[in-house]
Amino acid sequence: TLTQAEKAAVVAIWTKVATQADAIGAESLERLFSSYPQTKTYFPHFDLSQGSAQLRGHGSKVMNAIGEAVKNVDDIRGALAKLSELHAYILRVDPVNFKLLSHCILCSVAARYPSDFTPEVHAAWDKFLSSVSSVLTEKYR
Ligand code: HEM
Repeated sequence: TLTQAEKAAVVAIWTKVATQADAIGAESLERLFSSYPQTKTYFPHFDLSQGSAQLRGHGSKVMNAIGEAVKNVDDIRGALAKLSELHAYILRVDPVNFKLLSHCILCSVAARYPSDFTPEVHAAWDKFLSSVSSVLTEKYR
C-alpha cells in the first residue's frame, strides 16, 4: 500500500496527466508495441499504426481506468474488479506484459512532464502502477 506522501504524489502528477490522458495513453501503447512487439499478439484485430483511431480509443480507455484507480487509491481492487476479470478470464493476458505497459506509461509521463517527474514522484507513480498491475493479474492465481 502507498504511504500518504506517495498518494499525494500520485494525485499531483495525475492532475497534470488527466489533462492529456488520451494522448499519453496512445503514446504509451505506441511505446509498448514498438519496444515490445510481442505484445501486439493480443491485438490482432486492431490497426496499430501510429495515431490510428483504435490506438487512441484504447489509450483513452486504459487511462480512464488508471484515473479510476487514482480516485479510489484506497480500494483499487474494488475499482478495477471487472477489468481484473476481463484480463484474466477473457483476454488471458500474460502478467509479464503489465510490467511492460506500466514502464511505457511511466516513460510517457516522464517525457511529457520532466520537471514534475522528481525521483519521489517517479517512485510513487511506479509503486501505484505496480498496485494496479497486481490487481489486474491477481485473478490468475
Ligand atoms: C481491454 C485497461 C493492461 C490487453 C482493456 C480495457 C481497459 C483496459 C479499460 C477496455 C475494457 C472494456 O472495453 O470494457 C488496462 C489497464 C492495464 C491494461 C489499466 C494496465 C495498466 C493490458 C495489457 C495488455 C492488455 C498489458 C496486453 C499486452 C487488452 C486487450 C483488451 C484490453 C487485448 C481488449 C481490446 C479490445 O478488443 O477492445 N484494458 N489494460 N491490457 N486490454 Fe487492457
